[in-house]
Amino acid sequence: TSNHLRHVESMSTLPSGAGKVSHLNAVILGEALASEENDLVFPSEQFSSQALVPSPQKYLEMYTRSIQDPAGFWSDIASQFCWKQKWGEKVHSENLDVRNGNIKIEWFKGGITNICYNCVDRNVEAGLGDKIALYWEGNEPGFDDTLTYSQLLHGVCQLANYLKDIGVKKGDAVVIYLPMLMELPIAMLACARIGAVHSVVFAGFSAESLAQRIVDCKPKVVITCNAVKRGPKIINLKDIVDAALIESAKNGISVDVCLTYENPSAMKRESTNWQEGRDVWWLDVVPKYPSTCEVEWVDAEDPLFLLYTSGSTGKPKGVLHTTGGYMVYTATTFKYAFDYKPSDVYWCTADCGWITGHSYVTYGPLLNGATVVVFEGAPNYPDPGRCWDIVDKYKVTVFYTAPTLVRSLMRDGDEHVTCYSRKSLRVLGSVGEPINPSAWRWFFNVVGDSRCPISDTWWQTETGGFMITPLPGAWPQKPGSATFPFFGVQPVIVDEKGVEIEGECSGYLCVKGSWPGAFRTLYGDHERYETTYFKPFPGYYFTGDGCSRDKDGYHWLTGRVDDVINVSGHRIGTAEVESALVSHPQCAEAAVVGVEHEVKGQGIYAFVTLVEGVPYSEELRKSLMLTVRKQIGAFAAPDKIHWAPGLPKTRSGKIMRRILRKIASKQLDELGDTSTLADPSVVDQLIALADC
Ligand code: PRX
Repeated sequence: TSNHLRHVESMSTLPSGAGKVSHLNAVILGEALASEENDLVFPSEQFSSQALVPSPQKYLEMYTRSIQDPAGFWSDIASQFCWKQKWGEKVHSENLDVRNGNIKIEWFKGGITNICYNCVDRNVEAGLGDKIALYWEGNEPGFDDTLTYSQLLHGVCQLANYLKDIGVKKGDAVVIYLPMLMELPIAMLACARIGAVHSVVFAGFSAESLAQRIVDCKPKVVITCNAVKRGPKIINLKDIVDAALIESAKNGISVDVCLTYENPSAMKRESTNWQEGRDVWWLDVVPKYPSTCEVEWVDAEDPLFLLYTSGSTGKPKGVLHTTGGYMVYTATTFKYAFDYKPSDVYWCTADCGWITGHSYVTYGPLLNGATVVVFEGAPNYPDPGRCWDIVDKYKVTVFYTAPTLVRSLMRDGDEHVTCYSRKSLRVLGSVGEPINPSAWRWFFNVVGDSRCPISDTWWQTETGGFMITPLPGAWPQKPGSATFPFFGVQPVIVDEKGVEIEGECSGYLCVKGSWPGAFRTLYGDHERYETTYFKPFPGYYFTGDGCSRDKDGYHWLTGRVDDVINVSGHRIGTAEVESALVSHPQCAEAAVVGVEHEVKGQGIYAFVTLVEGVPYSEELRKSLMLTVRKQIGAFAAPDKIHWAPGLPKTRSGKIMRRILRKIASKQLDELGDTSTLADPSVVDQLIALADC
């Protein structure tokens, strides 16, 4: 058994009189300690008594089985889904150790299924046809819509039939560039239905980023809409797609069809730029297709989707997830981490352009037959009370969001929250970055009226689903800790040499063994997959995160340990921003670091060296910002550009980011040893230019 398990086990067997009574042990023994005293926040007895996992013992029992008998544990769960044919004798096979050859992960191989069928048809057949699958809330209050499970099936089938008709086949890639309309989950499900591999690109990415993704996966069709209104702003998505398609064509990739949904609240079709022969209005063609469509039955290990994410070097990586394991894992994590009840109304504020929207707007909830709110707009538009207005309107019971939104709403003041009832809320959730204890407390006390447990879910695009997460009724929470691993997950903390550290410690977070939702490769680059994730600490999956474990076995994520920064829960590679900056003709060199930011978690801080003779100017600063917006997207624009006559480099030419981070965060007394720099005087020059 894992360290973690031994640790929790030892806590649960400690006698109450033992010198150091563990908190978890105290709960088991019914000795709830005053929460103020030890910073523990307990679920209410009423909550726990109705929870799927009501106690640490129940968790331990299930967790132990999941680790000792993963095949049995996961096949029991998988059997609850619809399979055309059951998987082979081996439930899973894996090699996660680079020293033993190629990395390979398989779950339920030989099993034949379809995730769209399991999300939609299976629920309709089970009598949920008239249950609301999606509530859609538009950007403007008063614009809304709903789809029942039967209607969803109808819409998905029509689009699936259309896609088949234009020649999209099993294994073909489809790029989806849509905002949060119901058509976004519909498009994902339609692809899954016919075995096509969707690649959703967040509709905040620029034309160049979109083009890069199109060139990488070569889709036959791009699905988009003409425009979207986010807050008071209209964003013309079709123009961005047009520019991306021109750019892809220059790289030899031409797309046959651009299926465009008309989003009338943002732009009429007459004002939309159009290329005859390539562009097709969704509403002109899709509704004409039959509303039933046979599903394409696929192997559990057939690809389901690609999702690009940032790494510490080079271009974005196409994370590839397959069908069966991802299905079982997202459904199960959703169910337990949010203590799902069929009567829940669930709202996740994430966009389907990110992994959170894939696993916990579309697949996880629909696999459970849940009712999901899809919100098109900005959470503070038209005012900072919008979220709670939506919560009251739909009687939302489970609300899942990111710490950055919590912090920004917290700044706007309690009165925007307390003037709404929010009494439907039952469980809150947080994802994307560590949630600081003060934001946690505000979320808990003000939003949840000190009633609703918070599931602080730690996971990644690569992991497919939750890895370390509270089970809300099972144990007390510590504000800011993601608590304990989900079933089947064995987190380990290793030191620099890759040696597992036990007990209270901090180090690099790795995972031992595989779990069903793990990604299987990086699209077209298995070698990079192995190098990035499995070579740093042989024998383990390396997460890129730092983590500490406290004396009670709770996990505390401390952020990325690589050159990736986390801005408002968006993962951005410093190398990507640097390469955008240096593409500017007047930029000679750039170095980007993350710096603490009150609302965004981290801000982007760029040191820029200009081409010889070019003077600093506000105009140039703006033009550099614009270059990043154009190449990546507005969310990646630096918060600060710091003029740098030179960068601190070692004699071998390596930029010393450690020093740049200290300068950026104004911790000048912590610069450390600068004598190994090729030119130590650059540090003083940088400090002198800090406020220019
Ligand atoms: O650093 C961790 C942080 O977000 C990274 C993963 O980013 P991405 O693949 O974009 O997925 C975001 C949504 C799952 C992680 O390596 N992260 C995510 N959730 C948490 C977190 N850090 C601390 N606590 C979390 N709950």
